[in-house]
Amino acid sequence: MSMIKVFENRESQVRSYCRKYPVVFSRAVNSELFDEDGNRYIDFLAVAGSMNYGHNNPEIKKAVVDYLSGEGPINMLDMYTEAKAEFLQTFNEKILSPRGLDYKVMCCGPTGTNAVEAALKLARKNTKRTQVYAFGGAFHGMSLGALACTTDQASREGGSVPLTNVSHIPFDGTPGIDSLTYLKWVLSDDHSGYEKPAAIILETVQAEGGINVASVEWLKEVRRICTEEKIILIVDDIQIGNGRSGNFFSFERAGIKPDMVVLSKSISGFGIPMALLLISPELDIFRPAEHNGTFRGNQLAFIGGTAGINYFVDHQLDKEVQRKSKIIENFIKEKILPLDSRLTYRGIGFLWGIDFGAIDPKLAIEAVHRAFDKKLILEIAGRQDAVLKIMPPLTITDDVLNEGLAIVEEVFKEMFKA
Ligand SMILES: Cc1ncc(COP(=O)(O)O)c(C=O)c1O
Repeated sequence: MSMIKVFENRESQVRSYCRKYPVVFSRAVNSELFDEDGNRYIDFLAVAGSMNYGHNNPEIKKAVVDYLSGEGPINMLDMYTEAKAEFLQTFNEKILSPRGLDYKVMCCGPTGTNAVEAALKLARKNTKRTQVYAFGGAFHGMSLGALACTTDQASREGGSVPLTNVSHIPFDGTPGIDSLTYLKWVLSDDHSGYEKPAAIILETVQAEGGINVASVEWLKEVRRICTEEKIILIVDDIQIGNGRSGNFFSFERAGIKPDMVVLSKSISGFGIPMALLLISPELDIFRPAEHNGTFRGNQLAFIGGTAGINYFVDHQLDKEVQRKSKIIENFIKEKILPLDSRLTYRGIGFLWGIDFGAIDPKLAIEAVHRAFDKKLILEIAGRQDAVLKIMPPLTITDDVLNEGLAIVEEVFKEMFKA
């Protein structure tokens, strides 16, 4: 008998993804999931970007299992350990140094939102200003500081207290608004009503916000403005980082260097919780213990993280993503857009969205349900949840990618009676 009843009877109402995919999963291999009855599903969600290197990636798993089979410490606060030393060395040698980045690495509590909190605190501490600017469409997490930066009303209402000290600016591409002109006006007009911020926090590609890709010019200009105004630029690379954009860091395509970078999700390589704040050295002024947390020293995450970086570099995953990205984009252009002229799409690397907003936003969730019936896992995003989100693990094979896309095509043909 299915185990599903125990969740419905015992688990909190707050559960969400399981409502879209109401089966009990028991196995996961690269981009395929299997339920308790052995049914196979193709994964176009990658646990919201935390399984970039595939489920149970054998190379990463070997490192984790080897470590577990010894007597290495597992949880160590922020004490010095061999596993952490190796991670920091590998991260520096293979990711930071080759890109000319000299960030200090702060190990935060193990969720993305905790690292966002650290970034906001540290920016405020450095500048002695309280306000932060975030952008319309932003998602930065669910704890109160990060939630104040997050924009979707449903999440904000969950906070049940005023969400303060953050102002929102229209993101690049907001219809009818020149975002940069707006930002410059806010900062330059002493009657704009906005306080000068400690930091500007942004996703270079808003994922939960509906796959909104900031242009290179926009990113460069925001960087320039931040430098000129002595505002700290924080890039939240939690979802679009770790190779998903086609580069390890999503801001590489713009040739900019943020003052702080937030990383989580796939940084541990194996799906083990971990979050980092990368800090320009001159901003690294927290006193010891000023952003403490018990679970900042998960050694399995460091082991997986080291193996994940080696995997990324050894397999040239950035090049792979750039190649396979075209398969998805061409598919959308050739097979999906011709079905209805009101459909639009956006994306980069291995994060794509098909927007039903101009037809009927509810069609996006209908597509998710139809796809799930055909054993494909997809997600929705954006305003009114109108965007169908495609984000497979970066390691998906061409065959499975094409198989999943063929299901997307079937779903759209059914919905548009083609
Ligand atoms: C861009 C971005 N920032 C922050 C977060 C919050 O991360 P976490 O859910 O691990 O707290 C997410 C999660 O989806 C995210 O996509």
